[in-house]
Amino acid sequence: MISLKPYLRAAPLLIGASLMLVGCGPKEDTHPGQPVTHRRALLQETLRTFEPMGIMARGKKPYVQQTFLADAVKLQTLSTQPWVYFPPGSTYAPSRAKPAVWQQPAQFKQAQTKYIDAVAQLAAVAKTGNLDAIRPAYEAVSESCASCHKAFRGPAVL
Ligand code: HEC
Repeated sequence: MISLKPYLRAAPLLIGASLMLVGCGPKEDTHPGQPVTHRRALLQETLRTFEPMGIMARGKKPYVQQTFLADAVKLQTLSTQPWVYFPPGSTYAPSRAKPAVWQQPAQFKQAQTKYIDAVAQLAAVAKTGNLDAIRPAYEAVSESCASCHKAFRGPAVL
């Protein structure tokens, strides 16, 4: 059918246009120091490090001591980093931080300490290669992420 031809010609243009839209990405963070961008990038990197560890700890992939240990060491380095990027008033899109972060600073600090300590413990047992000790240490970290999120992270902002 000859009438299809214009559509076929338009297809590459349409693909090009949608790629450009993807390229635009989220709005640039114009706030001084870009705290929301920095903390979210660090926490996303945290998740990217932590997830593969869970796959091994939970037996869904073979446990490789060196790989697991390298991730545990990286997680420990990351564990202290996001928190300076929560200065007062840094609540703007796409942040999911609840007002409680700034209203209950002592509790927020306590949740950080609990997490940092749990990660240190996980890094320590990762050196032993003893999966029976690694599993509960992994779950303790996972629990510390979840309990902080429950108190201090709200629903996703679109
Ligand atoms: C002390 C509290 C606390 C701990 C511990 C914590 N988080 Fe979060 N996390 C937050 C808060 C608050 C935000 C929201 C930040 C924002 O959007 O401004 C967040 C955001 C994130 C994000 C960004 C993506 C999104 O849409 O919210 C990821 C991913 C994430 N956390 C993963 C983790 C993982 C994995 C752990 C544990 C290994 C962890 N977090 C530990 C408080 C915490």
